[in-house]
Amino acid sequence: MDELDDLKVHGETDIGWCALTLPNETVDDSGRLFVQAEGFSAADPRAPRRRVYDDPGVCALREHLRAHNGIQGLEILHPQEIERAAQIFFRDGFLVVRDALNAGQLETFRAASARVLQQILQIPGVNGRKYLTESYRLPHRYSYGTASASRHLLHDPVWASMIDLATTTPILTRIFGAPDYRILGAGGDLCLPGAIEYQALHSDGDREHFQMPVERIQQAGRLGIDASATDYGTLQRIIAHTPPVVTINFLMTDMTWENGPIRQIPGTQTRPGQAPSPAEEPEWMRLSTLVGAPAGAAIFRDTRAWHGGTPNLSREIRAMPNVEYMAPWYQDANFQPAMPYEIWAGLSPHAQRISLASRFPVGVWPPGAGVMHPLASARRAAKASSAPVRR
Ligand SMILES: [Fe+2]
Repeated sequence: MDELDDLKVHGETDIGWCALTLPNETVDDSGRLFVQAEGFSAADPRAPRRRVYDDPGVCALREHLRAHNGIQGLEILHPQEIERAAQIFFRDGFLVVRDALNAGQLETFRAASARVLQQILQIPGVNGRKYLTESYRLPHRYSYGTASASRHLLHDPVWASMIDLATTTPILTRIFGAPDYRILGAGGDLCLPGAIEYQALHSDGDREHFQMPVERIQQAGRLGIDASATDYGTLQRIIAHTPPVVTINFLMTDMTWENGPIRQIPGTQTRPGQAPSPAEEPEWMRLSTLVGAPAGAAIFRDTRAWHGGTPNLSREIRAMPNVEYMAPWYQDANFQPAMPYEIWAGLSPHAQRISLASRFPVGVWPPGAGVMHPLASARRAAKASSAPVRR
Protein backbone atom coordinates (compact mmCIF):
# COMPACT_ATOMS: atom_id res chain seq x y z
CA MET A 1 0.00 0.00 0.00
CA ASP A 2 1.22 3.48 -0.77
CA GLU A 3 2.26 5.22 2.43
CA LEU A 4 0.10 8.20 1.49
CA ASP A 5 -3.14 6.17 1.32
CA ASP A 6 -3.57 6.04 5.05
CA LEU A 7 -1.81 9.25 5.99
CA LYS A 8 -2.48 10.48 9.53
CA VAL A 9 -0.96 13.50 11.24
CA HIS A 10 -0.81 11.80 14.63
CA GLY A 11 0.66 8.51 15.75
CA GLU A 12 3.35 6.37 14.17
CA THR A 13 3.85 6.57 10.44
CA ASP A 14 6.21 5.44 7.68
CA ILE A 15 6.10 8.92 6.15
CA GLY A 16 9.34 10.89 6.09
CA TRP A 17 12.96 9.85 6.65
CA CYS A 18 14.01 10.04 3.00
CA ALA A 19 17.71 9.16 3.07
CA LEU A 20 18.22 10.44 -0.47
CA THR A 21 17.22 13.93 0.57
CA LEU A 22 20.51 15.50 1.59
CA PRO A 23 20.85 17.57 4.75
CA ASN A 24 20.05 21.25 4.23
CA GLU A 25 19.17 20.97 0.55
CA THR A 26 16.23 22.99 -0.68
CA VAL A 27 14.83 23.91 -4.08
CA ASP A 28 14.19 27.18 -5.87
CA ASP A 29 10.94 28.29 -7.56
CA SER A 30 11.15 25.66 -10.24
CA GLY A 31 12.66 22.78 -8.27
CA ARG A 32 16.41 23.21 -8.80
CA LEU A 33 18.35 21.91 -5.80
CA PHE A 34 20.57 24.26 -3.82
CA VAL A 35 21.63 25.06 -0.26
CA GLN A 36 20.51 28.36 1.21
CA ALA A 37 23.13 30.44 3.03
CA GLU A 38 20.84 32.81 4.88
CA GLY A 39 17.22 33.56 5.68
CA PHE A 40 14.79 31.39 7.63
CA SER A 41 15.71 28.27 5.63
CA ALA A 42 19.45 28.77 5.95
CA ALA A 43 21.52 25.62 6.31
CA ASP A 44 21.93 24.25 9.83
CA PRO A 45 25.70 23.70 10.18
CA ARG A 46 25.14 21.35 13.14
CA ALA A 47 22.68 19.01 11.36
CA PRO A 48 23.39 15.25 11.31
CA ARG A 49 25.09 14.07 8.12
CA ARG A 50 22.42 11.59 7.01
CA ARG A 51 18.62 11.58 7.08
CA VAL A 52 18.45 8.10 8.58
CA TYR A 53 16.59 7.15 11.78
CA ASP A 54 19.47 5.07 13.19
CA ASP A 55 22.36 7.17 11.89
CA PRO A 56 24.89 7.74 14.73
CA GLY A 57 24.63 11.53 14.34
CA VAL A 58 20.83 11.34 14.53
CA CYS A 59 21.02 9.05 17.57
CA ALA A 60 23.42 11.42 19.33
CA LEU A 61 21.14 14.38 18.68
CA ARG A 62 18.14 12.33 19.84
CA GLU A 63 19.85 11.52 23.16
CA HIS A 64 20.81 15.17 23.62
CA LEU A 65 17.20 16.26 23.03
CA ARG A 66 15.81 13.52 25.28
CA ALA A 67 17.93 14.91 28.11
CA HIS A 68 17.65 18.65 27.50
CA ASN A 69 14.89 19.71 25.09
CA GLY A 70 12.17 22.06 26.30
CA ILE A 71 11.62 25.26 28.25
CA GLN A 72 11.84 24.62 32.00
CA GLY A 73 8.61 25.51 33.80
CA LEU A 74 6.56 26.17 30.68
CA GLU A 75 3.16 27.27 31.95
CA ILE A 76 0.15 25.80 30.16
CA LEU A 77 -3.14 27.59 30.80
CA HIS A 78 -6.81 26.67 30.59
CA PRO A 79 -8.99 28.69 28.21
CA GLN A 80 -10.80 30.39 31.12
CA GLU A 81 -7.60 32.00 32.47
CA ILE A 82 -7.92 35.07 30.31
CA GLU A 83 -6.11 37.64 32.47
CA ARG A 84 -3.21 35.30 33.15
CA ALA A 85 -3.10 34.52 29.43
CA ALA A 86 -2.72 38.19 28.58
CA GLN A 87 0.04 38.63 31.19
CA ILE A 88 2.06 35.74 29.85
CA PHE A 89 1.45 36.65 26.22
CA PHE A 90 2.66 40.22 26.68
CA ARG A 91 5.60 39.07 28.80
CA ASP A 92 6.87 36.23 26.63
CA GLY A 93 5.45 36.88 23.16
CA PHE A 94 3.70 33.51 23.13
CA LEU A 95 1.28 31.47 25.18
CA VAL A 96 0.10 27.84 25.38
CA VAL A 97 -3.58 27.15 26.13
CA ARG A 98 -4.73 23.56 26.52
CA ASP A 99 -8.09 22.19 25.31
CA ALA A 100 -8.59 24.94 22.76
CA LEU A 101 -10.10 22.23 20.57
CA ASN A 102 -12.57 19.71 21.94
CA ALA A 103 -12.25 16.05 20.93
CA GLY A 104 -14.52 16.45 17.90
CA GLN A 105 -12.76 19.58 16.64
CA LEU A 106 -9.37 17.94 17.08
CA GLU A 107 -10.47 14.94 15.09
CA THR A 108 -11.90 17.17 12.34
CA PHE A 109 -8.74 19.27 12.14
CA ARG A 110 -6.51 16.18 12.10
CA ALA A 111 -8.47 14.73 9.19
CA ALA A 112 -8.28 18.01 7.27
CA SER A 113 -4.56 18.41 8.00
CA ALA A 114 -3.95 14.87 6.72
CA ARG A 115 -6.08 15.44 3.60
CA VAL A 116 -4.18 18.60 2.60
CA LEU A 117 -0.78 17.10 3.43
CA GLN A 118 -1.59 14.16 1.18
CA GLN A 119 -2.09 16.65 -1.67
CA ILE A 120 1.33 18.18 -1.02
CA LEU A 121 3.22 14.89 -0.70
CA GLN A 122 1.69 13.15 -3.68
CA ILE A 123 3.78 15.26 -6.06
CA PRO A 124 6.84 13.12 -6.70
CA GLY A 125 10.36 14.14 -5.69
CA VAL A 126 13.33 14.30 -8.06
CA ASN A 127 16.07 11.67 -8.50
CA GLY A 128 14.45 9.07 -6.28
CA ARG A 129 13.60 11.37 -3.41
CA LYS A 130 10.35 10.45 -1.69
CA TYR A 131 8.98 13.99 -1.75
CA LEU A 132 9.40 17.29 -3.48
CA THR A 133 10.76 19.83 -1.01
CA GLU A 134 8.85 23.11 -0.78
CA SER A 135 10.59 26.01 -2.53
CA TYR A 136 13.02 27.76 -0.19
CA ARG A 137 12.22 25.56 2.82
CA LEU A 138 14.34 22.94 4.51
CA PRO A 139 13.59 19.29 3.66
CA HIS A 140 10.54 17.61 5.17
CA ARG A 141 9.10 20.98 6.27
CA TYR A 142 6.00 22.42 4.64
CA SER A 143 3.68 25.35 5.15
CA TYR A 144 -0.04 24.79 4.64
CA GLY A 145 -0.29 28.48 3.79
CA THR A 146 2.53 29.03 1.32
CA ALA A 147 2.02 25.61 -0.33
CA SER A 148 -1.50 26.73 -1.25
CA ALA A 149 -1.72 28.50 -4.61
CA SER A 150 -4.09 31.04 -3.02
CA ARG A 151 -1.56 31.56 -0.19
CA HIS A 152 -4.12 30.55 2.44
CA LEU A 153 -6.56 27.80 3.35
CA LEU A 154 -9.51 30.09 4.02
CA HIS A 155 -11.41 28.26 1.27
CA ASP A 156 -11.30 25.12 3.38
CA PRO A 157 -14.37 24.85 5.62
CA VAL A 158 -12.36 23.21 8.40
CA TRP A 159 -9.77 25.98 8.62
CA ALA A 160 -12.55 28.59 8.39
CA SER A 161 -14.44 26.89 11.22
CA MET A 162 -11.52 27.51 13.60
CA ILE A 163 -11.58 31.31 13.20
CA ASP A 164 -14.01 31.96 16.07
CA LEU A 165 -13.91 29.47 18.95
CA ALA A 166 -15.35 29.87 22.43
CA THR A 167 -11.90 29.02 23.78
CA THR A 168 -9.81 31.43 21.68
CA THR A 169 -11.97 34.48 20.89
CA PRO A 170 -12.07 35.81 24.49
CA ILE A 171 -8.27 35.62 24.72
CA LEU A 172 -7.78 37.29 21.33
CA THR A 173 -10.25 40.01 22.32
CA ARG A 174 -8.30 40.61 25.54
CA ILE A 175 -4.97 40.72 23.69
CA PHE A 176 -6.21 43.14 21.04
CA GLY A 177 -8.21 45.15 23.60
CA ALA A 178 -11.46 44.80 21.60
CA PRO A 179 -13.12 42.40 19.15
CA ASP A 180 -12.31 44.56 16.10
CA TYR A 181 -9.21 42.64 15.01
CA ARG A 182 -9.30 41.04 11.56
CA ILE A 183 -8.34 37.83 9.80
CA LEU A 184 -5.02 37.92 7.98
CA GLY A 185 -5.10 34.34 6.75
CA ALA A 186 -4.95 30.69 7.67
CA GLY A 187 -2.51 27.89 7.00
CA GLY A 188 0.10 26.63 9.45
CA ASP A 189 3.07 24.37 9.15
CA LEU A 190 4.26 20.85 9.65
CA CYS A 191 7.38 18.78 9.69
CA LEU A 192 7.69 15.15 8.71
CA PRO A 193 9.71 12.63 10.65
CA GLY A 194 13.28 13.03 9.46
CA ALA A 195 13.28 16.83 9.39
CA ILE A 196 16.72 16.70 11.01
CA GLU A 197 17.68 20.36 10.59
CA TYR A 198 16.90 23.29 12.86
CA GLN A 199 15.09 26.02 10.97
CA ALA A 200 16.83 29.35 11.57
CA LEU A 201 15.34 31.57 14.24
CA HIS A 202 13.24 34.32 12.68
CA SER A 203 10.31 36.69 12.99
CA ASP A 204 7.46 36.02 10.57
CA GLY A 205 7.25 38.15 7.47
CA ASP A 206 8.03 41.76 6.93
CA ARG A 207 6.32 43.21 9.98
CA GLU A 208 6.30 46.94 10.52
CA HIS A 209 7.14 46.93 14.18
CA PHE A 210 7.38 50.59 14.86
CA GLN A 211 4.68 52.39 12.85
CA MET A 212 2.50 54.42 15.21
CA PRO A 213 -0.87 55.21 13.59
CA VAL A 214 -3.44 56.81 15.89
CA GLU A 215 -5.49 53.59 15.99
CA ARG A 216 -2.52 51.80 17.51
CA ILE A 217 -2.27 54.39 20.26
CA GLN A 218 -6.02 54.03 20.86
CA GLN A 219 -5.62 50.25 21.14
CA ALA A 220 -2.92 50.75 23.75
CA GLY A 221 -5.25 53.11 25.60
CA ARG A 222 -7.93 50.40 25.75
CA LEU A 223 -5.32 48.12 27.34
CA GLY A 224 -4.79 50.66 30.10
CA ILE A 225 -1.62 52.32 28.84
CA ASP A 226 -1.62 56.09 29.27
CA ALA A 227 -0.85 56.83 25.67
CA SER A 228 -0.87 60.60 26.12
CA ALA A 229 2.68 60.43 27.43
CA THR A 230 5.39 60.57 24.80
CA ASP A 231 8.40 59.39 26.81
CA TYR A 232 10.48 56.51 25.59
CA GLY A 233 9.15 54.06 28.19
CA THR A 234 5.54 54.68 27.16
CA LEU A 235 6.43 54.26 23.51
CA GLN A 236 8.08 50.95 24.33
CA ARG A 237 5.00 49.77 26.27
CA ILE A 238 2.69 50.71 23.40
CA ILE A 239 4.82 48.79 20.91
CA ALA A 240 5.07 45.77 23.20
CA HIS A 241 1.31 45.58 23.88
CA THR A 242 0.10 46.06 20.31
CA PRO A 243 1.36 43.17 18.20
CA PRO A 244 0.57 43.70 14.51
CA VAL A 245 -0.19 40.01 14.04
CA VAL A 246 -1.21 37.23 16.42
CA THR A 247 -1.18 33.70 15.08
CA ILE A 248 -2.86 30.75 16.73
CA ASN A 249 -1.30 27.38 15.96
CA PHE A 250 -3.41 24.37 16.86
CA LEU A 251 -1.53 21.25 17.90
CA MET A 252 -2.51 18.00 16.21
CA THR A 253 -0.13 16.00 18.42
CA ASP A 254 1.49 16.39 21.79
CA MET A 255 4.75 18.28 21.40
CA THR A 256 7.48 15.95 22.58
CA TRP A 257 11.22 16.39 22.94
CA GLU A 258 11.57 14.30 19.78
CA ASN A 259 8.90 15.32 17.27
CA GLY A 260 9.98 18.83 16.29
CA PRO A 261 8.36 21.09 18.90
CA ILE A 262 8.36 24.75 17.90
CA ARG A 263 10.99 26.85 19.65
CA GLN A 264 10.18 30.29 20.95
CA ILE A 265 12.59 32.72 22.56
CA PRO A 266 10.72 34.47 25.37
CA GLY A 267 10.64 38.25 25.41
CA THR A 268 11.98 38.84 21.89
CA GLN A 269 8.76 40.22 20.41
CA THR A 270 9.83 43.86 20.47
CA ARG A 271 13.48 43.37 19.93
CA PRO A 272 14.85 45.22 16.90
CA GLY A 273 17.38 43.53 14.67
CA GLN A 274 17.82 40.01 13.46
CA ALA A 275 17.71 36.79 15.42
CA PRO A 276 21.07 34.98 15.57
CA SER A 277 22.05 33.01 12.49
CA PRO A 278 22.21 29.19 12.69
CA ALA A 279 25.97 29.32 13.21
CA GLU A 280 25.69 31.89 16.00
CA GLU A 281 22.63 30.58 17.83
CA PRO A 282 23.47 29.50 21.39
CA GLU A 283 22.47 26.03 22.48
CA TRP A 284 20.00 27.31 25.09
CA MET A 285 17.96 28.91 22.33
CA ARG A 286 17.93 25.67 20.33
CA LEU A 287 16.47 23.94 23.39
CA SER A 288 13.90 26.66 24.14
CA THR A 289 10.97 24.63 22.82
CA LEU A 290 7.36 24.04 23.83
CA VAL A 291 7.78 20.42 24.89
CA GLY A 292 4.75 19.30 26.89
CA ALA A 293 2.14 21.32 25.01
CA PRO A 294 -0.63 18.77 24.39
CA ALA A 295 -2.65 17.90 21.29
CA GLY A 296 -5.67 20.18 21.03
CA ALA A 297 -3.77 23.09 22.57
CA ALA A 298 -3.52 26.51 20.96
CA ILE A 299 -0.24 28.36 20.81
CA PHE A 300 -0.88 32.09 20.62
CA ARG A 301 2.14 33.73 19.01
CA ASP A 302 3.12 37.36 18.65
CA THR A 303 4.69 36.75 15.26
CA ARG A 304 7.42 39.28 15.98
CA ALA A 305 8.90 36.95 18.62
CA TRP A 306 11.87 34.89 17.49
CA HIS A 307 10.88 31.32 16.74
CA GLY A 308 11.79 28.39 14.53
CA GLY A 309 11.25 24.74 13.72
CA THR A 310 13.34 22.05 15.42
CA PRO A 311 14.34 18.51 14.39
CA ASN A 312 11.65 15.87 14.15
CA LEU A 313 13.60 12.70 14.94
CA SER A 314 10.48 10.67 15.74
CA ARG A 315 8.17 8.57 13.60
CA GLU A 316 5.28 11.00 13.97
CA ILE A 317 4.26 13.96 11.81
CA ARG A 318 4.17 17.24 13.75
CA ALA A 319 1.43 19.39 12.22
CA MET A 320 0.11 22.67 13.57
CA PRO A 321 -2.45 24.34 11.32
CA ASN A 322 -3.08 27.98 12.13
CA VAL A 323 -5.30 31.01 11.88
CA GLU A 324 -3.66 34.42 11.66
CA TYR A 325 -5.18 37.63 13.03
CA MET A 326 -4.10 41.25 12.62
CA ALA A 327 -4.58 44.34 14.72
CA PRO A 328 -7.29 46.83 13.67
CA TRP A 329 -4.67 49.40 12.66
CA TYR A 330 -2.29 47.07 10.85
CA GLN A 331 -1.89 47.19 7.07
CA ASP A 332 -0.10 44.12 5.77
CA ALA A 333 1.65 44.76 2.48
CA ASN A 334 1.20 41.11 1.49
CA PHE A 335 -2.46 40.79 2.47
CA GLN A 336 -4.40 38.59 0.04
CA PRO A 337 -8.14 37.91 0.26
CA ALA A 338 -8.72 34.17 -0.08
CA MET A 339 -12.12 33.29 1.37
CA PRO A 340 -14.96 32.30 -0.96
CA TYR A 341 -18.24 34.08 -0.21
CA GLU A 342 -19.99 30.75 0.32
CA ILE A 343 -17.56 29.85 3.12
CA TRP A 344 -17.94 33.31 4.68
CA ALA A 345 -21.74 33.03 4.64
CA GLY A 346 -21.58 29.94 6.85
CA LEU A 347 -19.51 31.54 9.61
CA SER A 348 -20.57 32.94 12.99
CA PRO A 349 -21.44 36.67 13.09
CA HIS A 350 -18.10 37.49 14.77
CA ALA A 351 -16.11 35.40 12.30
CA GLN A 352 -17.98 37.10 9.45
CA ARG A 353 -17.16 40.57 10.81
CA ILE A 354 -13.45 39.91 11.16
CA SER A 355 -13.21 38.12 7.78
CA LEU A 356 -14.84 40.82 5.64
CA ALA A 357 -11.58 41.90 3.99
CA SER A 358 -10.73 38.30 3.12
CA ARG A 359 -14.09 37.63 1.46
CA PHE A 360 -14.49 37.18 -2.28
CA PRO A 361 -17.64 38.31 -4.16
CA VAL A 362 -20.54 35.90 -4.50
CA GLY A 363 -19.78 33.07 -6.88
CA VAL A 364 -16.12 33.98 -7.42
CA TRP A 365 -13.62 31.31 -6.47
CA PRO A 366 -10.27 32.69 -5.17
CA PRO A 367 -7.60 32.03 -7.83
CA GLY A 368 -5.49 29.04 -6.95
CA ALA A 369 -7.60 27.97 -3.97
CA GLY A 370 -7.62 24.20 -3.73
CA VAL A 371 -4.31 23.69 -5.52
CA MET A 372 -1.46 22.61 -3.25
CA HIS A 373 2.07 22.39 -4.66
CA PRO A 374 5.56 22.52 -3.13
CA LEU A 375 6.96 24.57 -6.01
CA ALA A 376 6.39 28.31 -6.24
CA SER A 377 6.38 28.18 -10.05
CA ALA A 378 3.61 25.57 -10.12
CA ARG A 379 1.54 27.60 -7.67
CA ARG A 380 1.91 30.74 -9.77
CA ALA A 381 0.85 28.82 -12.87
CA ALA A 382 -2.18 27.39 -11.07
CA LYS A 383 -3.19 30.81 -9.85
CA ALA A 384 -2.75 32.43 -13.28
CA SER A 385 -4.77 29.74 -15.02
CA SER A 386 -7.65 30.17 -12.61
CA ALA A 387 -8.22 33.91 -12.81
CA PRO A 388 -11.42 34.82 -10.96
CA VAL A 389 -14.44 33.60 -12.87
CA ARG A 390 -18.04 33.64 -11.89
CA ARG A 391 -19.38 30.16 -11.58
FE1 LIG B 1 7.81 31.46 11.23
